[in-house]
Amino acid sequence: MDWGLKNRLSRIIKPETGRTVMLAIDHGYFLGPTSGLEEPKETIKPLLPYADSLMLTRGILRASVNAQDDVPVVLRVSGGTSVIGKSLANEGLTVSMEDALRLNVSAVALSIFVGSEYEKETLLSLAHLVDEGQKYGIPVLAVTAVGKEMNRDARYLSLCCRIAAELGAHFVKTYYCENFTQVVKECPVPVVIAGGKKIEEKAALELAFNAVSDGAIGVDMGRNIFQSDCPVGMIMAVREIVHKKAKVKQAFELYEEIKHKPR
Ligand code: 5RP
Repeated sequence: MDWGLKNRLSRIIKPETGRTVMLAIDHGYFLGPTSGLEEPKETIKPLLPYADSLMLTRGILRASVNAQDDVPVVLRVSGGTSVIGKSLANEGLTVSMEDALRLNVSAVALSIFVGSEYEKETLLSLAHLVDEGQKYGIPVLAVTAVGKEMNRDARYLSLCCRIAAELGAHFVKTYYCENFTQVVKECPVPVVIAGGKKIEEKAALELAFNAVSDGAIGVDMGRNIFQSDCPVGMIMAVREIVHKKAKVKQAFELYEEIKHKPR
């Protein structure tokens, strides 16, 4: 692997632990002003010191992150659809590699929609993005988006992750599922998990714990952090699990402690 690409990846996946806590705040690219992300700048501010990287769009990067902030950026470069449109799967590339370079990103991310009517287009976009990234040493994160009609099971998610890796993705984001070890084993590149819809804090910590125990290198978590009643407590607790191999009980106690700390 080329030096620049390795260097960028190591800004996201911390060499000390081989793991990562990515903060996903890209939801607005198809959902608009998502709950908890109405004012991204305010959401991000207290969380920045605890995020190994920020996953977000070009517009929110420009508007809500200071150029002086030392946080690696994973730039979402796919989109073009909305939650009220015809098909979420009909995504295209939204940012050129030149602009990603100008923005000094550490990686670019796009969604693939395996099994959807736009499977081929999104997979070819991934292959194209990998080619562009190879020119400049920019790693590519493939996000295995799941359409309403798809099962989030190991068979389907393994298929998606493996195809993403075969097409050259440098790391893959998917969902946790039963038999997740199979998904990780059959995917030759590192796997991170999305948090999914907001659930109880303890359950979200269990999800993170199970994912890393089953071989994920970390999380790219959004709503279960920024929609929590204590986002800072939650991201700190997730870090304890991911980087310090803490048990759920210990991490949950940390979350509770931060939540009840007088401000
Ligand atoms: C959407 C995404 C989101 O970043 C992803 O879903 C992570 O956020 P959450 O933890 O809220 O699910 O990639 O396709």
